[in-house]
Amino acid sequence: MVQGSRARIRLGWPDVGERELAEVAEVLESGMLTMGPKVAEFEAEIARLCEVEHALVVTSGTAALHLAVQALGLQPGDEVLVPAYTFPATANVVALTGLKPVLVDVDPETMNVDPAKIELGPRTKLLLAVHLFGRPLPLHALPDVPLLEDAAGALGARYRGRACGGLGLAGCLSFHPRKIVTTGEGGAVTTNDAGIADAVREARNHGWRSLVPPDMPAPGLNYRLSDVLCAVGIPQARRLDELLAERTRVAAGYTERLRDLPLLLPRADDGDVHGWQAYVVQVDDRDRVLAELRAQGIEAQIGTYALHLLGAYRDQGAFPGAARVFERALALPFHTRLSDGDLDRVAQALDKLVSNH
Ligand SMILES: Cc1ncc(COP(=O)(O)O)c(C=O)c1O
Repeated sequence: MVQGSRARIRLGWPDVGERELAEVAEVLESGMLTMGPKVAEFEAEIARLCEVEHALVVTSGTAALHLAVQALGLQPGDEVLVPAYTFPATANVVALTGLKPVLVDVDPETMNVDPAKIELGPRTKLLLAVHLFGRPLPLHALPDVPLLEDAAGALGARYRGRACGGLGLAGCLSFHPRKIVTTGEGGAVTTNDAGIADAVREARNHGWRSLVPPDMPAPGLNYRLSDVLCAVGIPQARRLDELLAERTRVAAGYTERLRDLPLLLPRADDGDVHGWQAYVVQVDDRDRVLAELRAQGIEAQIGTYALHLLGAYRDQGAFPGAARVFERALALPFHTRLSDGDLDRVAQALDKLVSNH
């Protein structure tokens, strides 16, 4: 039941408006809806933000992961380490590319892969390094293994001063609506490696190396992002600092209000910058709390998934860290339109639900 006439507090709300409308209008008026100038313009902004040479935009974060994994030239059966607690796309692209995803348990406090749980085998070729919900992974604690960053939620995040998305062989971003920069659906591969960039550029466009004369050395896909969607992303990319400052304000507002409650609150390691894709707390009896919040018009959500509990990955054994976080993680409403009054309302609702008074 929604209480009285109180407005619903939405889980997410993209920060788009007049600037994006104007950019989209320009594309529509130009008649160039795909493969036009907005693609290169958006890519230049993304490369600048991730402090890399190349950014290639594609139709989703999943497409970015798919093409990046494929571009690394691994052999069928090679093993790729994947956190046991992440959005399933992280592991799905590995399996669909003929490689073997090997799940690694997560640290139940950080929700990121637990470096102490990583075991390198003779066929381990890569770690798919997820900065979950925007929290940078502690790279210094990882063993010596090549990294592909799943930075789907980490645009704007920084590990010890360096931009996430520019820390490994390549980075993969998502522009889904709950991300800091959104195009509705979209994604990007970021890299300093010209070979990876060329492979992704070709594979997102059917495999064409050139059209005249026709040259297609390997089969590819159509994962091109339309200029209409690039136009939505450009103004947001230009004001990433402002968007991150707003999200940091909301996160700090929650932390201030919730710190005395029996909840585990999210944060980044000292010296890192959290990208605040989401504000995900951990709480006992999460399903009850989630249902009660929703009944009060507060749109909350689970965090993400424990992959070993899904049919596709059930054969990989037990991952107690992932199982615990899957049961306890609770994503609170998180977007730049949240007012102090909204934060008060969420905090008061949580206080009543989790405190013993
Ligand atoms: C960690 C992670 N990886 C990959 C993806 C997939 O991105 P997309 O939804 O843009 O395909 C997501 C999406 O939420 C994600 O959170």
